[in-house]
This record gives sequence, C-alpha cells and structure tokens, in this order.
Amino acid sequence: MEIRTVGVVGLGTMGAGIAQVCVQAGVETVGREVTQELAERGRATVERYLGRGVEKGRVTQDEMDAALGRLTLTTELSDLAGCDLVIEAVVERIDVKRELFAQLDRLVGPEAILATNTSALSVTEIAAATTRPERVVGMHFFNPAPVMPLVEVVRAELTDPAAHEAAYAFAERIGKEPIRCSDTPGFVVNRVLIPVLNDAIRVLDEARVTPEDLDKAMLHGTRWPIGPCALIDLIGVDVHVHASEALWESLREPRMAPPPRLVAMAKAGLLGRKTGRGFYSYGQ
Ligand SMILES: NC(=O)c1ccc[n+]([C@@H]2O[C@H](COP(=O)([O-])OP(=O)(O)OC[C@H]3O[C@@H](n4cnc5c(N)ncnc54)[C@H](O)[C@@H]3O)[C@@H](O)[C@H]2O)c1
Repeated sequence: MEIRTVGVVGLGTMGAGIAQVCVQAGVETVGREVTQELAERGRATVERYLGRGVEKGRVTQDEMDAALGRLTLTTELSDLAGCDLVIEAVVERIDVKRELFAQLDRLVGPEAILATNTSALSVTEIAAATTRPERVVGMHFFNPAPVMPLVEVVRAELTDPAAHEAAYAFAERIGKEPIRCSDTPGFVVNRVLIPVLNDAIRVLDEARVTPEDLDKAMLHGTRWPIGPCALIDLIGVDVHVHASEALWESLREPRMAPPPRLVAMAKAGLLGRKTGRGFYSYGQ
C-alpha cells in the first residue's frame, strides 16, 4: 500500500518535528491542532528549524519553500479523512489518545494506518479503542525528531505484519533509521536508558560524587557522548520522572522508580535546560 498523504495530530514539540521530517521528505502532510493559533505556532516551529538549515547551508531556500508548501494546517479532524497514515503526537494521556483513535477510526479509509508516538503508554490499549487494531502501530520518534534518526516501529498485540512493515518502510522513506519491536513498557531505548539514568543519579549520593565528576566519568571512562546529568537536563527532569513512573508502574522493578532527588528537583522547578536550571545552570 502506498502512503501518499500523512496526517500529524498535535503540532507540539514532537508533532511539529515529525511534520517537518515528512514534508522535507516530499510527503504531503496535514497537521491538525486544537486551535488555529497552536497550528500556526506549529508551522512557525517548522519554519524556524528549516530557516536555520538554510542559514547553515544544509537546505536551500527553494527546498524550504517547497517543504512548507507541502504542509497544510487544520483544526478539523475530518480533514484527515484522506490520509493513508496518521501519526498521533498529542498529550501523553490514555483517555485522550483512545478517544482520538476512536474518532480517527471512523474517519479514515479502511486501509489507512494509525500510528501513535506514545513514549510509555500501551499501543495495544490505544489500538483497542478502534475497530481496526490490526492497522494500528507505534511510531516512536525521538526528540528532536528532525535530528534524531531512530524510530521504534512498534507492533501491538493485534498489529497485522503488513501494516507494521508499511510503517517501517515509511520511516525509512522519510530518512529515518527504524527498528522493529513489540509493545512492551519503554519499548527498547527507554527500557534500557531510564534505569541506567536512575542508577547514575543514585550513584551521585552513594559515591558522593559531583554531577560534573559523574558526567566526566561517563564521558572519559565509557565515551558516552554526553554525561547522565547533562542528558537529564536536556530531556527535562519532569519528562524523565514521568517516564520513570510509567515504567515503574508497569514493571515494578525498583530501578525504574524515579530517584527521590529527581522528584524533588521536578517539584522545585529545576527541570534542566528548559527552565535554565537543573544539574547545571544555563544562561537564558
Ligand atoms: N518530548 C519528548 O521528548 C517526546 C519524545 C518521544 C515521544 N513523545 C511523545 O509524544 C507525544 C507528544 O509529546 P510532546 O512532547 O510533543 O508534547 P507537547 O506538550 O509539546 O504537545 C502536546 C500536543 O497535544 C495537544 N493536546 C493537548 N491536549 C489535547 C487534547 N485534550 N486533545 C487533543 N490534543 C491535545 C497539544 O495541542 C499539542 O499539540 C506524547 O505522547 C509524548 O509521550 C515525546
């Protein structure tokens, strides 16, 4: 089945990035937001990133204009009716995603694939809100979507292998490095990374090491490209705590539980780069 038109629901951090990747790869894309203002903000995000690409000589002005010309904005879900693939990137709430999938199921053609970008919810549970669970997959992009090559293409319990392969092929077509995996908590990367980062934070107190020295240790002792404290600041302390809690709830493994130090930081608003202070301070 050929994927000609893609819908992206939610043009926040992830949705805007995903829409950008699609239009840059030459795919007609319909972006849906809840308000016109948010939709315009999503387009502005895409424009800003592409503009930076032009400045750096990675994208030509013509390519940027053509890419933006492939992005249509709407606030009406019904405008996604003609899409062959819809990628959902709305708030991480199971009730909102299930309701959205039930609506999309009634709108799009019978062959259309519905994909969720959820990080920690069950793709199977989202698929169960539709009458076509065999056409539902996870497409887990990483932040920032235009920069990070990986997409975890997730097969839920009832996903048809053909739909899974079509989503995988689409991820390759838009220039990504996809992997295939099943619908387990945290999929692959977060299942590995979250407990490792939590261990790193516990070591801060156990070994009485400073964040600077912990990061230095991992950079120079293992050649990690970024230290764990700097990485949590980049991800956002709140985002990491939320993902840890979700894994802890599903797996009940102590290493998944967010370390109290991170929970305290999240409560204090020390969220990392986005608030200017986390383990490190960032000039704003
Ligand atoms: N930020 C990340 O690092 C990251 C990485 C991978 C996956 N994800 C996943 O991507 C999804 C979106 O995350 P984000 O970081 O882009 O969030 P965001 O806050 O930047 O965007 C959220 C989007 O949801 C929409 N929204 C909010 N409430 C809604 C509602 N009730 N109905 C419909 N739309 C609603 C908003 O308009 C917005 O477009 C989540 O499922 C998240 O787990 C996030």
